Amino acid sequence: MKRRHLIVLGSAGIGIVAALNWVKTRPLANRATATMTPTVYTSQNGFLEVDFTAAVRSVQVGNRTANLLSYNGKSPGPRLEARPGDTVRIHLQNQLDQPTNLHYHGLHITPQGTGDNVFLSVAPGKTFTYEFTIPADHPAGTFWYHPHHHHHAAVQVFGGLAGLFVVRGELDDIPEVKAAQEEFIVLKDYEIDRAGNVPPADHTALMMGREGSLVTVNGQINPGLSISQGGLLRLRLLNASASRFYRLQLENHSFQLIATDGGAIATPVELSELLLAPGERADVLVQGNQTPSTYRLLNLPYNRGGMAMMGGGMGHGMGGGMGHRGGRSAEAPQPLASLIYQGSDTTLPFPQQIGTVATLPEPTVTRRIELSMAMGHGMAMEFWLNGQPYDPQRIDIEAKLGTVEEWELVNVDPDQMDHPFHLHVNPFQIISRNGQPEPYHAWKDTVLVKGGETVRIRIPFQTFTGKMVYHCHILNHEDLGMMGNIQIVA
Ligand code: C2O
Ligand code: CU
Ligand code: CU
Repeated sequence: MKRRHLIVLGSAGIGIVAALNWVKTRPLANRATATMTPTVYTSQNGFLEVDFTAAVRSVQVGNRTANLLSYNGKSPGPRLEARPGDTVRIHLQNQLDQPTNLHYHGLHITPQGTGDNVFLSVAPGKTFTYEFTIPADHPAGTFWYHPHHHHHAAVQVFGGLAGLFVVRGELDDIPEVKAAQEEFIVLKDYEIDRAGNVPPADHTALMMGREGSLVTVNGQINPGLSISQGGLLRLRLLNASASRFYRLQLENHSFQLIATDGGAIATPVELSELLLAPGERADVLVQGNQTPSTYRLLNLPYNRGGMAMMGGGMGHGMGGGMGHRGGRSAEAPQPLASLIYQGSDTTLPFPQQIGTVATLPEPTVTRRIELSMAMGHGMAMEFWLNGQPYDPQRIDIEAKLGTVEEWELVNVDPDQMDHPFHLHVNPFQIISRNGQPEPYHAWKDTVLVKGGETVRIRIPFQTFTGKMVYHCHILNHEDLGMMGNIQIVA
């Protein structure tokens, strides 16, 4: 197995900022990291044009300064904001020592040419200009961008490359949503060694999907989020981690889910906790209806499986005693951020109706996709879809534009590891999990398929022809073969 490591740039950025950052966010963005680089780029007059430099830079994350992969010196990268109908132009300059590219996760845009084309490769030292138009009927939602170069996706996202791509529209204009205080929550973990560099991944990390021990919200440790008594807080959450799952709970408060990966749902759904697999997003409202105090946003322990087989077979620093389902994310609840009551408001209600989610017709084609892993050549594990690793030249699925398909995603991983399945360009709806109908309609682009589980999804192939991919969003698994090509034809 080929491993690529980040080239380390000297030790310019060493130095530990000791104090924990208790930051009153409003806005969360402009603090500490004193650079002039904007943290948000917003489209003007139907046009968003941005210069992006992907490079190793000294970046402050949490209480550390580290040499991270960054866009314009930032990790997470700047937030991009556009509207339906806008034209987007991004000049990506690659100052890394390896090829890269950009993927627009969740956007329904063309996969061809200079659009969401993950087959493009921008060589070190080169610049490439992406240009695409967001369809005028595109839903508003929380999307994101990150590199997607095969074999480099995990190391580049883990190293720091990822940012939000927000489409503003109808959802944002609902009066109750508009009245809420909006905060973005980018969940991202990092691993930084004593010299301030990202150490190479070990074998176990590659197999399980690498998790970093420094868990941050918008690159900060335990930032404060303010809420007024009676007011509404809108949290727009993104799991931008390469492999880490987040099982979120807010002390004494529930979440009112108003949008999923692909935008608004019909009516709010109350959740006491929220599991976000890598790549997933959620848009929730929180009501300031508790005794004014400080409440913790917690990451609860979650076991995402795996390790039994690898522990038995590989003898690679794992010991024999790990047992089954060893992919535990944390032993105890971990505080991610703090909700701080400040001031009071006239009590704001939750919205009743958020959006409409179409009921999809019966599918014309059904397919079965099995997710698994196995020993490949030598000692290397491979991750498979339908019994084979990714082949960039092979078309695994050909679908017809304008049709609706139903895919049965079956996790047959002998190691019972969870695998979040993601499809580019066309959002889908979850029909059922293990035969249990999904309780409400929602647009998704990433769905968790737990060890042993079968999930049925329904996909309308709309607007765009071309070649794109579907894959596990544990990015080490994607890089190790858990991906396929789909060609949509007219
Ligand atoms: Cu966010 Cu193909 O991935
Ligand atoms: Cu994607
Ligand atoms: Cu996976």
